[in-house]
Amino acid sequence: MDNCFILKGNICHTPQADSLTIKENAYLICEGGVCRGIFDVIPEPYKNLEVIDCTGKLIIPGMTDLHTHAPQYAFCGTGMDYELMEWLNRITFPEEMLYADEEYALRAYEIFAGKVKRSAASRIVLFGTIHPNSTLILMDLMEQSGLVTYVGKVNMDRNAPPGLTEESASRSAADTRFFIEEAIRRGYQRTRPVITPRFAVSCTDELMKELGKIRKEFDLPVQSHLSENPGEIDLVRQLVPEAHFYGDAYDRFGLFGGEGNTVMAHCIYSGPEETERIKSNGVWVAHCPSSNMNLSSGIAPVRRYLEKGIRIGLGTDIGAGTSESLFRAVTDAIQVSKLYWRYIDQKAKPLSFSESFYLATKGGGSFFGKVGSFEEGYSFDALVLDDSIEPAAHSMGSKDRLERAFYQELDRNGIVMKFVDGRQIF
Ligand code: GUN
Ligand code: FE
Repeated sequence: MDNCFILKGNICHTPQADSLTIKENAYLICEGGVCRGIFDVIPEPYKNLEVIDCTGKLIIPGMTDLHTHAPQYAFCGTGMDYELMEWLNRITFPEEMLYADEEYALRAYEIFAGKVKRSAASRIVLFGTIHPNSTLILMDLMEQSGLVTYVGKVNMDRNAPPGLTEESASRSAADTRFFIEEAIRRGYQRTRPVITPRFAVSCTDELMKELGKIRKEFDLPVQSHLSENPGEIDLVRQLVPEAHFYGDAYDRFGLFGGEGNTVMAHCIYSGPEETERIKSNGVWVAHCPSSNMNLSSGIAPVRRYLEKGIRIGLGTDIGAGTSESLFRAVTDAIQVSKLYWRYIDQKAKPLSFSESFYLATKGGGSFFGKVGSFEEGYSFDALVLDDSIEPAAHSMGSKDRLERAFYQELDRNGIVMKFVDGRQIF
């Protein structure tokens, strides 16, 4: 069988959110791209497999970026002095307009793809722009990167500037069908389309209805934004008065979990009814702490979502988020949860390192199936981390080394090998 080997090193993962498990000098077995578990001694049936010796290095699951925007990487780290709606109009929409030009799209998306290939992400759920051909260019590049991704052609037929508003709901739907059919025709191995209404503010009911039909017809997942900013939520209330709450504006059209997997970014201001619907429809929440700080959006009640058993992972949300580092997302999530506890709700215990690590691995990974853990039967997504690139004056146990690597963002230079579904990316 292809794709069978063993990694030896200090193996760290979180089968449960609250218990980081570390096995030192252990063997991690990959059989046909699937993890067969962690062993102190190589079991008999696997005795003849090649052992890749990473002794002394940390081995962790590949991480999932559950929400980000590829076209926004071009301005990442700039234009941070606004709240959501003003930021969209001043910074984001002018940039996204440029992707009408496929040469520009290729140039910009090559930079993005190069960056995420080296990052801690093995899986990403991505927004493109409204432009089907440019978004297909992004899909080609993601396929070449070796990562497993969902890529969405964005839909928006209102409340955007003329160059970025689709001419009608039916035109937007037709472009979406073309995009999906072409993606299928290209026969990608690891790159899949996802239905992507930008948010309720930018999609008419007519468009939502069309997208609901397309979702069902092609059996695709859905991604969008939800309850991110108070001004945005007011707008949705005015634009969709029939909806009982923001999320209901999607659910009315079959775009909010239930039959198809759905991931909603942010969910900062979700009330009891919306939270209940997220839970009952099995919607994933993509918590994006960097973005939420930069746009002064607020802090999502992650502890409450975990206690309710809601599916949740982390997103970098570039370019409202200012780092593609998922190590950074993990520590940002911990830090904002501490402020939430201190300032907002003393019953909402801050996230532990283990819990936040879990969100970025097994939590978000579940959107892709059995992903983000080294338990038997999980996809073999793995990172080998050389944290010795950052000198330390005294020796540390693996737990401290791991935590230090995250807080110091050693995913930028310290990842020396990356595997996705057992394939070595570098
Ligand atoms: N809501 C609608 N579009 C966007 C976007 O591009 N980024 C963020 N953070 N929120 C949005
Ligand atoms: Fe976003």
